[in-house]
Amino acid sequence: MTDIDQARVAELTEREEARLAERLPRSIDLAKRASQSLAGGVACTWHALDPYTIYGARGRGSRLWDLDGNEYVDMHCGYGVMVAGHAHPKVVEAVRGRVGLGTHFAMPVRETVEVAELLAERFGLPLWRFKNSGSEATMDACRIMRATTGRDLVIKVEGSYHGSSDGLAFSYWVDVERAGAADRPVAVHNTAGVPEAFGSVLRIVQFNDLEAVERVLADEGDRVAGMILEPILMNVGVIQPDPGYLSGLRDLLHRHGALLAFDEVKTGVTIAAGGATEWSGVRPDVVALAKAIGGGIPVAAIGGTEEAMRVLVDGTLEGEGTFNGNPLSMAAARAVLTEVLTPDVYERFEAQNARFTAALQDVIARHDLPATVSTVRCRGSIHFRAEPVRNFRDEAGSDGPLQHLAWLFQLNAGVFPPAGDPWTFSVVHTDEDLDRYVGAFEGFAAAVTS
Ligand SMILES: Cc1ncc(COP(=O)(O)O)c(C=O)c1O
Repeated sequence: MTDIDQARVAELTEREEARLAERLPRSIDLAKRASQSLAGGVACTWHALDPYTIYGARGRGSRLWDLDGNEYVDMHCGYGVMVAGHAHPKVVEAVRGRVGLGTHFAMPVRETVEVAELLAERFGLPLWRFKNSGSEATMDACRIMRATTGRDLVIKVEGSYHGSSDGLAFSYWVDVERAGAADRPVAVHNTAGVPEAFGSVLRIVQFNDLEAVERVLADEGDRVAGMILEPILMNVGVIQPDPGYLSGLRDLLHRHGALLAFDEVKTGVTIAAGGATEWSGVRPDVVALAKAIGGGIPVAAIGGTEEAMRVLVDGTLEGEGTFNGNPLSMAAARAVLTEVLTPDVYERFEAQNARFTAALQDVIARHDLPATVSTVRCRGSIHFRAEPVRNFRDEAGSDGPLQHLAWLFQLNAGVFPPAGDPWTFSVVHTDEDLDRYVGAFEGFAAAVTS
């Protein structure tokens, strides 16, 4: 395995950051103006990239253009939202059609019912509600589990991000030094402003650690409402569940009268028609969806079994939200589900991904890089670590500076990937688009090992 020379990495990083600055004069300029009116110059903390925030201009298909006119193959897809591709004609047509008919009433519309039916069929879960963001959907998933069981504790996986609600703003990307023993992690704040009390009703476990869940249930099973997790971890690169992990969780939780919630905000309708629920064959009690289902229009959904959703049916649990099931969002979601992310798409993703993964693995092998590739259909990531990654702490031990340099090489080659998240490709990405990513990765690998 090639030993990475960190001095060489630092030198290349400086060179690539200087090249990036040359490409982004207008963005760098707008950032100065933006800081006068937008807190931190951005609308979302994650938009502020290191070293420069890139301001966008437009997108079409697999490509997007920034304010300086640079064209990118978009492998970010807006945090995994744009699996339909930018400005997909079917989504544009659906949104245009609805805009002229009025976009918001205090009434559900026909599309609200149709989208619920489509999701029920895909996920094998009969009852649905709509929200506007993934954060709301996961917040409600926890509420449903707590209201159904009358218990307070929720088990959460370390490293998994479930959005910005107070109840779940713990233990996603945290300093391992503060996070307790690996087999008994403690809830660690991710942001200021959240009372400690919210963390006291969470129990934190590592991904792929069934025994840890068993222990929590043995100790406090009669207080545990359920467990929420991403069935495939997608906020620390892609980390896949061990065989039997998800079904083991479901059986364990049910044995203790607790529920299982899948956060499929990233996996839902993207890696399979029925998301990771279909992919794994494990049906949870509750599922939270968002991102890709709206084709770029904000929408989220929450689905569940009749038992889990009874609290919403009988009114025990209030399911509020002015924009829930907004007609514009519903029109976009119906188009995505019926005309864009159709069943044939997932087989195509599988074939494209096999070719793409093999090409990346070939680069790693030829340059003997300490890295592994983990992909599921249109999502994937490179972990800059030689050993397999099974949980957040493995990923936290990976080479951050090397990852940052690999990202800079992509930007300068006209590819826009997320800085740490998994990449996403869309229904309109071609093999040539993916080859641009491979080419930039090859350039990075050659430079860093030369
Ligand atoms: C797995 C997962 N859950 C929930 C969320 C929160 O979604 P939103 O940003 O729409 O609130 C995200 C966002 O990245 C996510 O990746």
